[in-house]
Amino acid sequence: MIDAKRGLARIAFHAEGRLLAALFAGPSPVAVARDHLASRLNEAKPTILAGRPRADMPDPGATVCACLNVGINTIRAAIQSGRALSVAALGEALGAGTSCGSCRPELAGLLTRFKLPEAAE
Ligand code: FES
Repeated sequence: MIDAKRGLARIAFHAEGRLLAALFAGPSPVAVARDHLASRLNEAKPTILAGRPRADMPDPGATVCACLNVGINTIRAAIQSGRALSVAALGEALGAGTSCGSCRPELAGLLTRFKLPEAAE
């Protein structure tokens, strides 16, 4: 897909019905969900030129917990829903932080960053 007016190019390379690679290029940085695109490699006929997941395919976001493959958007949703309000609760809900533990400090930082302020009484 070429958008000559905006100078954008989105190109997918397929072989035998499988996605091999994708190129997103433009005069300024192009926003794409890299984890989403990488997860679609080797799928039969993936639709990836939008550069982000469809509305029915939530983007987990950049990986925070590599051991359990948990992304920042998944963590933010768990915190903001009130489902996980501690590092231990993130472990119970998502598995994040329950293996090597090296991501626990980042999980604690995300809890501080994403917790919704409590309502004033
Ligand atoms: S990176 Fe999260 S438990 Fe290892």
